[in-house]
Amino acid sequence: MAKIETLQWIGAADGRLQMIDQTRLPTELIEIQCRDVPTVWEAIKMLRVRGAPAIGIAAAYGVCLGLQAVAGRDEAGFFHHLHEVAAYLATSRPTAVNLFWALDRMKAKAETLRGKPTTEIAARLLDEARAIHEQDRAMCRAIGEHGAKLLADGQGVLTHCNAGGLATAEYGTALAVFFIAAEQGKRLSIYADETRPLLQGARLTAWELQKAGLDVTLICDSTAAQVMREGRIQAVITGADRIAANGDSANKIGTYGVAVLAAAHNIPFYIAAPTSTFDLSIATGAEIPIEQRDPREITHGFGRQTAPDGVKVYNPAFDVTPAKLIAAIICERGVIRPVTREAIAGMVG
Ligand code: MRU
Repeated sequence: MAKIETLQWIGAADGRLQMIDQTRLPTELIEIQCRDVPTVWEAIKMLRVRGAPAIGIAAAYGVCLGLQAVAGRDEAGFFHHLHEVAAYLATSRPTAVNLFWALDRMKAKAETLRGKPTTEIAARLLDEARAIHEQDRAMCRAIGEHGAKLLADGQGVLTHCNAGGLATAEYGTALAVFFIAAEQGKRLSIYADETRPLLQGARLTAWELQKAGLDVTLICDSTAAQVMREGRIQAVITGADRIAANGDSANKIGTYGVAVLAAAHNIPFYIAAPTSTFDLSIATGAEIPIEQRDPREITHGFGRQTAPDGVKVYNPAFDVTPAKLIAAIICERGVIRPVTREAIAGMVG
């Protein structure tokens, strides 16, 4: 499979962050250059970079960009700026916990370096961002290996949104399972929900799977029940943006509906996510902040008005699938099954 470099740091501590502009896919593969923090913030907000792990990696590199202006200054000024930059990046999107996880990790690393010259702290924080990036690559590969054991040759699988290489450092989470299963010679028929309103399934998942030579069929979101009834689906796998201590999982709007449909058809519904997506500080999914997005994503999607002027719109970007509908959570450490508070604490805590 040709590698997709979703994010790349170019150069040394005075370098820049290069990312694929995912809003331009599938028709244009264009990379944008981020040389300052507001550009990274805008890229996260506008979904040029999206998917929980990729947002976290982008934010970590965003911190490094922010520190370029203050490397060499006194420690108090340096740390003040670091906290300002991290707080600003944290306002870009609220749901994916990987964003906050990565920012906290950068701040915690900086604390261990107090007393060193600030140029050195800045350089070591770039190493930390690179480590977050590389560890995500390894975690995704491990998720793929654990998850592939749950699938058999000849099965049909369904996924929602994009939890692929574009959403992570490489491989993805749900899509890593499909990529590794394919490497093992398992022939899967993969159904990709188009994923209204921003079409991550159509624009990104279908593009990634087709590019990798896997058998992918694009369906409207509203076709999911029908393909299940027709017996075409033996498993559903999606990613997650935040998983509460009890296993309730936030993911792209529509995921909850797919999980309900899977339960109605006795099809196992799996979540694939790295441990950086777990938020053990919250007891249940009721505490997960759900991002509300611009109504125009629904009324004026992709350049054409498709609803009457002034219509009321409700556009939550995510929903929460209750743990009881999730057959297993696949993370880099193994498969959590059944999905209970105790099993999660045992694997992740
Ligand atoms: O709004 P998005 O495109 O950032 O939403 C992404 C998802 O919901 C993904 O499924 C999730 O982040 C997991 S990515 C490995």
